[in-house]
Amino acid sequence: MDEKIRINKPICLEHSSLKYPLPEKLLFELSEELHNMNKYPSGGDYLELSTKLADYAGVAPGNILPANGSDEVIESTTRAFGNKLILIPTPTFSQYEASADRNGFSKKLVNCLQGYDYKLNYNDDDLKEASLVWICNPNNPTGESISREIIKNILDRSAGIVIVDECNYEYLGETVADLIDKYHNLVISRSFSKNFGLAGFRLGFTIASPKNIIKIARYCQQFRVNRMAEIAGIKVLKYLNYYKEIWQEVARVRKQFIAALHQINIMAFPSKSNFVLVDFITRENTKSVWQYLRKEGVYTFAAWEDEFSGLENHYIRFTIGTRQEMDYTLMLLNQYQKNNPI
Ligand SMILES: Cc1ncc(COP(=O)(O)O)c(C=O)c1O
Repeated sequence: MDEKIRINKPICLEHSSLKYPLPEKLLFELSEELHNMNKYPSGGDYLELSTKLADYAGVAPGNILPANGSDEVIESTTRAFGNKLILIPTPTFSQYEASADRNGFSKKLVNCLQGYDYKLNYNDDDLKEASLVWICNPNNPTGESISREIIKNILDRSAGIVIVDECNYEYLGETVADLIDKYHNLVISRSFSKNFGLAGFRLGFTIASPKNIIKIARYCQQFRVNRMAEIAGIKVLKYLNYYKEIWQEVARVRKQFIAALHQINIMAFPSKSNFVLVDFITRENTKSVWQYLRKEGVYTFAAWEDEFSGLENHYIRFTIGTRQEMDYTLMLLNQYQKNNPI
């Protein structure tokens, strides 16, 4: 094993949270807030936070509903609109389906993967019948993006609400937030977990028309965002330049990781996110690679874990870690491929 890139602690490439440290100054600012933790958050309306988030997303504060992670956006939007039929494009993030099941709502899973192409292929009858339609952009776990034209086409053809999960917007750099006034059936979900490294704080937000915000808020608790998460959300956007450099580095490392895998004949999807889905062809190979990586201290999500809906069992998803972590992972995969060609 190459000593130069040996890493002594486990490398967690499972959840797609940010693998870089938070800005030191932000941590200092937050530590100074600890003595205020005997107070409630700012009383249900979260006005200052909503105004900051609205500025960031390019919409009005009335279009914003802060949430306890985008998981809460998923749950509250499902409860507000999902009572008739929920359309879910697979493979995708598991919580759309889990939320439908928790609430006893009907769901239809629509397979959108053809070869290595993820294409939304909802038909007109389903779009007319559904009260809630999911789009994950870029999609988890394939990492592929859905074009603005396709999203507009689905919005035009849908009788119900279309929710676009933009929790990895910062990596993709494309949004449909500017369409919120035009399409009253559009709801958008955003997160601070993946891109700003605030997964532990649980902070996300909904973007929607003020009318839909009121409907969704009925299913949320008054103090759903805790005081520290509220303050973190207000302060973190000052450090946008720090994060932008990280997002660019993630894109570079991702590109090199995919290219290096292709060089050793391992197929990876062309991701626009901070994770990469890799095809190990059979379940047996997949299990064996996954176990080997774990034994060597690299933790990844295999297709059969709870993170995914409708993913066949021959894939592993790698979150993009630091350059050193990904070099180490590549070295292991190279070794594996030499000894047991896939
Ligand atoms: C596509 C997608 N949406 C939403 C979430 C939930 O994120 P959060 O941490 O904001 O609840 C995840 C987390 O993995 C995700 O992958």
